Amino acid sequence: MKDKAWKPKRVGGDSAGATPGVPVIELSIRSAECKATLEGMIREIEGVRLKDSQEPTVPSLVIMELEDNPEDTFSLIREMGKLNKGTEIFLTAGRLDSVILLEAMRAGAKEFLAQPIQKQEVVDAIGRFLDRASTQGNKAEGQRKSGKVLAFFGGKGGVGTTSIAVNVAAAINKLPNKPSVVLVDVNQHGGDLPLYLDLQPNHSFRDIATDLSRLDQAFLIRVLTKTELGIQVLPSGYDDLSTGRLSPDCVEATLRLLQASFDYVILDCGHVLDLTTKKALELSTFILVTSTLMVPVVHRTKRILELLRGSGFPSNKIRLVMNRFLAAEQDVLKETEEILKQKAFWLFPNDYPSASQAVNSGKPLIDVAPRSAVAKSYMDIANSFDEHTAQQATKGSLVGWLNPFKGRKAQSSPAGA
Ligand SMILES: Nc1ncnc2c1ncn2[C@@H]1O[C@H](COP(=O)(O)OP(=O)(O)OP(=O)(O)O)[C@@H](O)[C@H]1O
Ligand SMILES: [Mg+2]
Repeated sequence: MKDKAWKPKRVGGDSAGATPGVPVIELSIRSAECKATLEGMIREIEGVRLKDSQEPTVPSLVIMELEDNPEDTFSLIREMGKLNKGTEIFLTAGRLDSVILLEAMRAGAKEFLAQPIQKQEVVDAIGRFLDRASTQGNKAEGQRKSGKVLAFFGGKGGVGTTSIAVNVAAAINKLPNKPSVVLVDVNQHGGDLPLYLDLQPNHSFRDIATDLSRLDQAFLIRVLTKTELGIQVLPSGYDDLSTGRLSPDCVEATLRLLQASFDYVILDCGHVLDLTTKKALELSTFILVTSTLMVPVVHRTKRILELLRGSGFPSNKIRLVMNRFLAAEQDVLKETEEILKQKAFWLFPNDYPSASQAVNSGKPLIDVAPRSAVAKSYMDIANSFDEHTAQQATKGSLVGWLNPFKGRKAQSSPAGA
């Protein structure tokens, strides 16, 4: 370790929060005393800073405490390693026997700090961390992705918003460049997304809402439900019959953190435009308003589109998605687009047998009926969102994927056939 790193830090503590390029340390420690001790020690160390509460930065280093069930800690370390490849993990515990040390090392922990914490051990371990970072050419800065947030919002209830969100998430997860995907249920009036993947999650937004100040990367990863598909899920935990409401603040803090870790954040926003949903839509890269060609659905979709435009959402962010489309409905589609003053960005074919088979089996349609036209359409829309693939397809030009109507015919014609 270079000596210069250990000069006492200038007055100002961790308010160096805004300093760019300084490695960020997150403490995932339950014991208040141990946490305070570590905070005090780290503030004295030059060249690193503590992560501010809810700061949407992926930490360079997480110091986590061994949980009562060590297996929980090991799987958390593995998940963090997979998701944030540049993040190092240190483990601290009162008991660090050789079995635990070995398992933690296998999971990916780099250093161990025995409790009670000794200052020199912390200084040395952080020194080695900074050395590793510099030799690997990695500046160990707080890194963050800026994942795409795709919000699916129903023009009306029952139009297929959840089915589309689930399948688009599953389809993006299958792309060749293996983007990381999290599927989030922001629908506090339905909140039934886990059923579509046959999940019985232990955690949801409710856990985050209980104490928003606890929200950090490690906590968030604990709350997410891992699926066999490879995507992670954050259920809403709220529905019409439950008490309490999901707050816009909770949604904002959570989505910002998720966006910093995942390539894609897919939102099921339900069909009620309340303040919480609006917050989610504000944070989204695209708002995909889902509709069908049924008159009552078109009627409400029109109002939704007007409300969104009137609320200042940029028009290039709003996309119209038609579900359950039949090829014979080309003329109706044209008329509907005129009524809605919006061209359809995507047409998902009607396929009730496959759609209900998928819902009833708790699997995405793309797995249950992979050869169907609607499964192909889910894969195609996933490709269209993926810059990497789209860039290749258009030989380096982004025009192709920015043009929402390119390939629309290709979507619609096999759809109703
Ligand atoms: N492309 C499709 N073709 C035919 N049926 C479909 C299609 N997509 C979804 N469905 C069916 O539409 C019904 C409603 O779907 P889903 O639950 O996804 O809608 P939703 O908009 O999320 O509903 P809610 O307002 O209750 O949340 C389900 O029976 C589903 O199987
Ligand atoms: Mg739904």
